[in-house]
Amino acid sequence: MNVAHAEFVVSNTRVDHCPKTKMPEYAFIGRSNVGKSSLINMLCNQKKLAKTSSRPGKTQLINHFLINKKWYLVDLPGYGYARASKTQKKTFQKFIVDYFTKRKELVSAFLLIDIRHEPQPIDLDFLRWLGEHFIPFSIVFTKVDKIKEKEIETKVSGYLEVLKEDWESLPLYFVTSSEKRLGREPLLNYIQQINQSIDNF
Ligand code: GTP
Ligand code: MG
Repeated sequence: MNVAHAEFVVSNTRVDHCPKTKMPEYAFIGRSNVGKSSLINMLCNQKKLAKTSSRPGKTQLINHFLINKKWYLVDLPGYGYARASKTQKKTFQKFIVDYFTKRKELVSAFLLIDIRHEPQPIDLDFLRWLGEHFIPFSIVFTKVDKIKEKEIETKVSGYLEVLKEDWESLPLYFVTSSEKRLGREPLLNYIQQINQSIDNF
């Protein structure tokens, strides 16, 4: 799929303030600093559409980006940010839970996992929570440029092995690097397929 047009629309902390236009949307979630905002920029062929930082905790709001005037990518704050205060964590939890449980336009979530790290309880818990709430998701392994090419497969299959302890069928997954622009086409094509199936419905 070609991303001909991508624009920032709105940021907020309340699901009832998200865009009212009924278009399919795809949300990026995962630990702080995992590369959610960078991935959105990579998909949109832009450098600064979504704000990124080497310091965790950059994205603090629900951010809607309108793509090709037809669907949205949604950048969310990261979880597991050690320096966040207790109040920040609680507020975050509330609006993220609200977003995932109430936002009818959400078609699918992408849960980002830094390929370098062993499976973390916080991500596995979040995946379970998505499952319990029947929220469709796929997994996106990020920053694969940071490991050797031949290690990628081992890391991915190691992760899937752990997921098998929780899940009968394994989720779809993508292997990406925003730095090296890897995995862009498969991810965009997947979104396109879903958008087309919604159109034909
Ligand atoms: P929060 O908004 O804080 O939750 O973080 P985020 O998940 O949006 O991460 P962000 O995109 O801001 O990236 C965090 C850091 O990782 C930045 O310094 C990025 O340049 C770096 N980064 C993101 N993706 C990649 C990648 O594919 N490869 C490499 N090497 N670095 C990456
Ligand atoms: Mg971010």
